[in-house]
Amino acid sequence: MTERELLERFEETVGKDRRIEPRDWMPEGYRATLIRQIAQHAHSEIIGMQPEGEWITRAPSLRRKAILFAKVQDEAGHGLYLYSAAETLGADRDDLTERLISGRQKYSSIFNYPTLSFADVGVIGWLVDGAAICNQVPLCRTSYGPYGRAMVRICKEESFHQRQGYELLMTMMGGTPAQREMVQDAVNRWWWPSLMMFGPPDADSPNTARSMAWKIKRHTNDELRQRFVDMTVPQAERLGVTLPDPGLRWNAGRGHYDFGEPDWAELKRVISGDGPCNAERIARRRAAHEEGAWVREAAAAYAAKRAAGGRAA
Ligand SMILES: [Fe+2]
Ligand SMILES: [Fe+2]
Repeated sequence: MTERELLERFEETVGKDRRIEPRDWMPEGYRATLIRQIAQHAHSEIIGMQPEGEWITRAPSLRRKAILFAKVQDEAGHGLYLYSAAETLGADRDDLTERLISGRQKYSSIFNYPTLSFADVGVIGWLVDGAAICNQVPLCRTSYGPYGRAMVRICKEESFHQRQGYELLMTMMGGTPAQREMVQDAVNRWWWPSLMMFGPPDADSPNTARSMAWKIKRHTNDELRQRFVDMTVPQAERLGVTLPDPGLRWNAGRGHYDFGEPDWAELKRVISGDGPCNAERIARRRAAHEEGAWVREAAAAYAAKRAAGGRAA
């Protein structure tokens, strides 16, 4: 088949909402966009283990420790499914890790903020995993098969994450005034960065149109941000916390909540490496990678030995 016929077949498959699989022909731009998006997503899962992982040793009870342990471990699993999905496109796992620790590939800006109290664990579950769910549920229908299938499993676990966060906050809100204050303080700090998780406004997001045409993305950044706000406001009311946005109000005409503009300059700053914890997160990831070198060497030696044994038998 000629390149043109291959492209027509690809576009027909995508147009009919059928999936592109690893063995199928795909335009190089589609492959490159997916590798970049899946790698950034994988990096976010792995770096995202750090802000909450810091609280495992300081969890207030065995029950909270077990829940937090399981959650952080889930995030490692999400990273692994996603790196595997990127490998089906021909990406090399070592190369992706190298790009992350050298700062050439990004991860979600949200994980560059510090966790100052145990209430942050609850607020991350509620708002950060909640925003991740809004972003990720439509990705279960993304056009690339291995990515979509990884997202189905990830989304199930993310909804557990969100619930454990909300349940933790509910418990704290039923506690002492000091505990309620901790929750409100955490909400004040995480609200705006959570809105930034959906990326820049549509007018400032040049790749969105192409990703939508390829059905990698199914909704724009602004659509997903609105969906998140609409979902979260009633939850905040039920919880008894105030979202730190004086512009937040129901708009009956639109059938949505109106809300204020996040500080896009801050988002740019944090993405470009100048957030409160960027250097710390990368340094920790680099150290973990270096300390794990012997494990990778041992695994490779074992695999080689088994392969040699297999041939001899
Ligand atoms: Fe995750
Ligand atoms: Fe999560």
